[in-house]
Amino acid sequence: METHKQLTIGLFGFGTVGEGLYRVLQQTPSLKATIRKVCIKNADKKMISPASLFTTDKDELLYDPEINVIVEVIDDADAAFAIVSTALRNGKEVVSASKKMLAEHLPALLDLQRETDRSILYEAAACASIPVIRNLEEYYDNDLLHSIRAIVNGSTNFILTKMFEEGLDFKEALLLAQQLGFAESNPSLDVEGYDALNKWTILLNHSYGIVERPENIVFTGIQNINQNDAAVAREKHYEIKLVAQAKKLNNGGVAAFVLPQFVNQQDQLAFVKNEYNGVVIESGFSDKQFFYGKGAGSFPTGSAVLSDISALRYDYHYEYKKLYHHQRNQLTNDFYLKVYISFDNAAYIPKEKFEWIEEWHADLNRNYLIGVLAFSELKNSKWWKEDNISLILTPEPIIEDVEIRKLKKKSLELAGITL
Ligand SMILES: NC(=O)c1ccc[n+]([C@@H]2O[C@H](COP(=O)([O-])OP(=O)(O)OC[C@H]3O[C@@H](n4cnc5c(N)ncnc54)[C@H](OP(=O)(O)O)[C@@H]3O)[C@@H](O)[C@H]2O)c1
Repeated sequence: METHKQLTIGLFGFGTVGEGLYRVLQQTPSLKATIRKVCIKNADKKMISPASLFTTDKDELLYDPEINVIVEVIDDADAAFAIVSTALRNGKEVVSASKKMLAEHLPALLDLQRETDRSILYEAAACASIPVIRNLEEYYDNDLLHSIRAIVNGSTNFILTKMFEEGLDFKEALLLAQQLGFAESNPSLDVEGYDALNKWTILLNHSYGIVERPENIVFTGIQNINQNDAAVAREKHYEIKLVAQAKKLNNGGVAAFVLPQFVNQQDQLAFVKNEYNGVVIESGFSDKQFFYGKGAGSFPTGSAVLSDISALRYDYHYEYKKLYHHQRNQLTNDFYLKVYISFDNAAYIPKEKFEWIEEWHADLNRNYLIGVLAFSELKNSKWWKEDNISLILTPEPIIEDVEIRKLKKKSLELAGITL
């Protein structure tokens, strides 16, 4: 019995992802999905397919009754939100890859889906080819999900890999990433952590049912990490990764942030090199599971979009179970982080803010400390983001047991180490 519906697609955007999708679709004739029209911004661009397929008039797609699916893969978040909202209101299903738009407009998009009874799927927006959203949505029950840790930005991972393994300095590694097409010509969105933050905002919803504005999540990128930090990591048998993580704490809240981290060489995330992405999920009974794959690029991203299109044939939609049907989770600031901080000038480090300091290293080449800070200090201050200060979490950085923390502080004081 044939129950799958015919999909007629209006495609917005024909850049890296849009063209990738077009080519992937051509090689998947069994899907019963056809692109009826493509809307782009500049009419004069040369395209690989017939000119009659293209338009610059968005209404030709949004108001075409034959089109039942709008695929939005453009690089303008505001325009994308306008397109997606109109499409849903006009009774069309939507597939999107625009993580910035999704992260910034999540509450409105949730309301719109309920109002219109139409769905928006966006697997490509987080970790591209890795099917992490649908897995989180369908497989991991709220109570069982202990933690999720991920490398969600391929550009920064590529830069860190080159700094670490080939000794390139930050600027050389960034240039190489740009030359190979792994970083934008304006790379600050990737390098300063904004892209990872947007993806994490989306994944927090599907992991824990938390809907939070990106600017409320503590984050930074890799812009201040230097070769001295890489040398310390090597000495300690660690690697450095930009890790997005969330963990359910004993106090019932969820700790979440996107920060650089030292990872042990046995950690699954240490295995993720260059432009790849990886996700480690820890759950109640199945222990750790590791997802690995390409987090960007024309075909990997196009194939994730295709997978969403395919899911629409059987009316798949995100149920947002953790948001609507489970006891609501909330972010907490009530925990501590063990951090490594390197700096040029100790005068800029507020030592009194540390719960305790375990290591203090100062010589001509390097100054760093390893100590414990209340998470609220990171949330409420910016000194640790200043130029010439680099903050890297230690492995297993979350400290939530208050008694152990107090005892440790006491023991250091008794040992004559005053803070
Ligand atoms: N590239 C990746 O690997 C990747 C991975 C995951 C998610 N994404 C997300 O996917 C989206 C597209 O990325 P991309 O790399 O494919 O971008 P891109 O190569 O820069 O292409 C953007 C496309 O959007 C079109 N466009 C821009 N504004 C438009 C508007 N108002 N109406 C219609 N078309 C418009 C552009 O038209 P013109 O060609 O006429 O300028 C172009 O075809 C972004 O949100 C990105 O964050 C990308």
